[in-house]
Amino acid sequence: MTDDVLVVHGGTPLQGRIRVRGAKNLVSKAMVAALLGDSPSRLFDVPKIRDVEVVRGLLGLHGVKVTDGDDDGELVFDPANVESASTDQINVHAGSSRIPILFCGPLLHRLGHAFIPDLGGCHIGPRPIDFHLQALREFGATVDKTPEGLHLSAPNGLRGTKFALPYPSVGATEQVLLTAVMAEGVTELRNAAVEPEIIDLICILQKMGAIIKVHTDRVIEIQGVPKLHGYTHRPIPDRIEAASWAAAALATRGHVEVLGAEQADMMTFLNVFRSVGGEYEVTDARPPKLGHPGQEGGIRFWHPGGELNAVALETDVHPGFMTDWQQPLVVALTQARGLSIVHETVYEQRLGYTEALNSMGANIQVYRDCLGGTPCRFGRRNFKHSAVIAGPSKLHAADLVIPDLRAGFSHLIAALAAEGTSRVYGVDLINRGYEDFEAKLADLGAHVERP
Ligand code: EPU
Repeated sequence: MTDDVLVVHGGTPLQGRIRVRGAKNLVSKAMVAALLGDSPSRLFDVPKIRDVEVVRGLLGLHGVKVTDGDDDGELVFDPANVESASTDQINVHAGSSRIPILFCGPLLHRLGHAFIPDLGGCHIGPRPIDFHLQALREFGATVDKTPEGLHLSAPNGLRGTKFALPYPSVGATEQVLLTAVMAEGVTELRNAAVEPEIIDLICILQKMGAIIKVHTDRVIEIQGVPKLHGYTHRPIPDRIEAASWAAAALATRGHVEVLGAEQADMMTFLNVFRSVGGEYEVTDARPPKLGHPGQEGGIRFWHPGGELNAVALETDVHPGFMTDWQQPLVVALTQARGLSIVHETVYEQRLGYTEALNSMGANIQVYRDCLGGTPCRFGRRNFKHSAVIAGPSKLHAADLVIPDLRAGFSHLIAALAAEGTSRVYGVDLINRGYEDFEAKLADLGAHVERP
């Protein structure tokens, strides 16, 4: 732990240009989808992050040959020899990511049984998997929970079903998609999540031969097919990483161009960014033409000078303000004049990191009530899930310990914005979801070093 520390000399605006690649929360699912094909799949623009390594390891254990393609960031998956892995081998990955739960459907289709280790991922609340297991049972799977993990089987195959999610969960929607595409008959999923990453996963499955209709009102209908083939796909860019760098530009009064950032997937973030007083400019990508080299698209974000404005916002499922945008933006909100309100409605315990910001001079109070908007699921359940941020506050350096991925990035932004030298412990966790973040910080002129 003591080696895993970054020394941050704060107070310098971030200036420069970085690039984001395929979205972490799509790429990892696309890798699982490759298990369903009867021929190789090819995925471009895969970032070098820990979650990708975990899924690569699990695919390898199940006989999927994963190789690096010719392009930087290209992975090729050959599922010709899918096989069972031992629970001991699989358990090496216990606690490292939440993606293994999505192996259920594809492994049941390919092998008739599956073993899923204890899940990991960020500690931002209890993160149950009840919707996943309920859906799998609806398809006809039997689920046996044991101390070592989950054993699933489908002795009679999987059949399409009609199912409504109690909440539009991203993971449970992906679970249903990855299972329904090869289940016998039609599946109708109501109250489905429709995040851009889900739509991109649907595009991948459609490329593989699936028949999936996205109706209005969060209804997705899937016509099962007996066989799918491999895909070739370039994923949507990482809109969480793009927003994280945008928030870092605002909090440090800097100017950052995020190449690869996509306006359409970030509309809600961009509206809030502008309301807070940040400026941005979208550059559209242009393909190369004779005599012109073409242009990579992206978004430039900057602090225009002067004061920022307080805002009230509520995190929500798509097309609402993403829960993963919340923590980085709150650091910028500590610099806004007045009272900002943030109502977190996706996770019940995603405001704990504000204590660290307070230790640096921020003035953030958290409440159990649903503040500033509509009542949510957590209002009556005693969770501190609303924050009031009084600003502007001068942030000073502190020693910080990173609690989870997104909060970790917000700690880093706070240290960059603060006067003085902070020590940020546990930074390695940031590699789970932010490719080369230390090199990117260097490109943006941040004064950071490993002791
Ligand atoms: N939920 C249940 N039961 C379930 C599943 C979910 O109660 O069986 C609840 C959760 O506890 C939570 C809510 O439903 O309160 C939403 O969870 P969801 O299933 O949508 O989240 P997820 O699929 O586990 C993904 C991302 C998260 C992102 C959320 C919301 C991945 C690997 N993770 O999680 O990303 O915050 O959707 O958009 O795709 C991150 O990247 O740092 C991250 C946490």
